[in-house]
Amino acid sequence: MGILLTGGAGYIASHTAVALASAGHRVVCLDNLLNSRAEMVERVGDITGQAIPLILADIRDTDALQQAIRDHGITAVIHFAGLKAVGESVAWPIAYYDNNVRGTLSLVEAMAVCNVKTLVFSSSATVYGLPLYLPLDESHPTSATNPYGRTKLMVEEMLADIAHADPDWRIAVLRYFNPVGAHPSGLIGEDPHGTPNNLMPYISRVASGRLQELSVYGDDYETADGTGVRDYIHVTDLAQGHVAGLRAIGTGDRPFAIWNLGTGRGHSVLEVIAAFERVNGVSVPYRIVARRPGDVAACYASVDKARSELGFEASLGLQEMVGSAWRFERMLRASNT
Ligand code: NAD
Ligand code: UD1
Repeated sequence: MGILLTGGAGYIASHTAVALASAGHRVVCLDNLLNSRAEMVERVGDITGQAIPLILADIRDTDALQQAIRDHGITAVIHFAGLKAVGESVAWPIAYYDNNVRGTLSLVEAMAVCNVKTLVFSSSATVYGLPLYLPLDESHPTSATNPYGRTKLMVEEMLADIAHADPDWRIAVLRYFNPVGAHPSGLIGEDPHGTPNNLMPYISRVASGRLQELSVYGDDYETADGTGVRDYIHVTDLAQGHVAGLRAIGTGDRPFAIWNLGTGRGHSVLEVIAAFERVNGVSVPYRIVARRPGDVAACYASVDKARSELGFEASLGLQEMVGSAWRFERMLRASNT
C-alpha cells in the first residue's frame, strides 16, 4: 500500500512511518514544517533503509493534496497534521479551526476526488472532557472544554457523517492518550518548537539544563500522591497501533470505527519524575505550583476494544518511556553543539 502521512515530519507520524515501512508499506510524508524539521523524515529513512519522500505542502491546499495522492499512487491516508496546544487554541481559535477543521475538510475533498477512501485520523482522549468514570471506554460521552478539543470532536463528527453517507469509506478514529518517549535509536523523538506544554519534553529539557525547573501543576488532586495521573503510552507502541488500525479498517466491513490507544495504566507526575531520575541517573528539579486550568485529576484508557478488535496491546513501560526520551534529548543536544 502507498500510505500518505499528513504532518509526516511530526513526532507521532515519524515513528509511525518507521512502523509502517517496517511492516512493508510504502510511506510518503507531507508536511508544511510548521512544527517540525525535514531532517526527521531523512532520519526515518536512515532507520528503515527506505528513502521516504517528503512533500512540502499545506493540507489546506486541496490541489497539492490531489497531486500528491495521484503522483505517489496513494491508497490510504493517516492524518496527523494539525495544531495541538490547548492554551494556544484558546488564544487563537481561528488558527485552530482553520488548520484542524478546514484542513481536514480539504483532505477529505482531495481524497474523494481521487477515490481514495481509507483514512486514519489522529484524535485525542481530550474528546472525553471531564471523565464521568474511569477507565475511559470509547462509549464514554464526549465533550470539549477548549477550542483544540472542539476541533477534534468536530472532525470526528464530520468523518462519521462522511462514512455514513458513503459506506465505501473506511475511517478509523484513534484516540491517543499521552504519547511519550522516542525511537530506541535516539534519532527521532519529540522536539517541539518553543517551550514544551507537555510533561515529558519539559522534564527532558530541565534534565539537560535547557530549562531551569519543572512546575508541577498541583499536588492536591484526589490521587495517591496528589499530582495528576495520566495514561502515558510509548510512541513506538502508539505507532504499532496505527499499523493495526489501518489493517483492521482495510479488512473489516465497518465504514467507521473508533479505538482508544493507551496502556490502561495511570502514572502520576511525581512517579514520572522519579522514574526519569532513577532510570537516567539525572536530577529533575521541580516545584509544586497551582493547578493548570482545565486539567483533570486522572485520565486513563480502557484498552479492551483495541485489544479485542485490533489485537493491539502496548508492551513498553515507564522505564522505556523515560529512558528513550532522555536518549533522544542527549542526541539532540550533541547534534546541536
Ligand atoms: P507534531 O506537531 O509533532 O506533528 C504535527 C505535524 O503537522 C507537524 O510536523 C506540523 O508541521 C504539521 N502540520 C501542522 N499543520 C499543518 C498543515 N496545515 N499542513 C501540513 N502540515 C501541517 O504533533 P504530534 O504530537 O505528532 O501530533 C500529531 C497529531 O496527533 C495531531 O493531530 C495531534 O493533535 C494528535 N494528538 C497528539 C497528542 C500528543 O500528545 N502528541 C495527543 C493526542 C492527539
Ligand atoms: C494535554 C492536553 C490535551 C492533549 C494532551 C496531548 C491540556 C489541558 N491538555 O493533556 O488536550 O490531548 O496534552 O497533547 O493541556 N504537568 C505538569 N507540569 C508541566 C506539564 C504538565 O505538572 O509542565 C502535568 C499536568 O498537570 C498533567 C500531566 O503533567 O497532570 C500531563 O500533562 P500533559 O503532558 O500536558 O498532558 P495532558 O494534560 O494530559
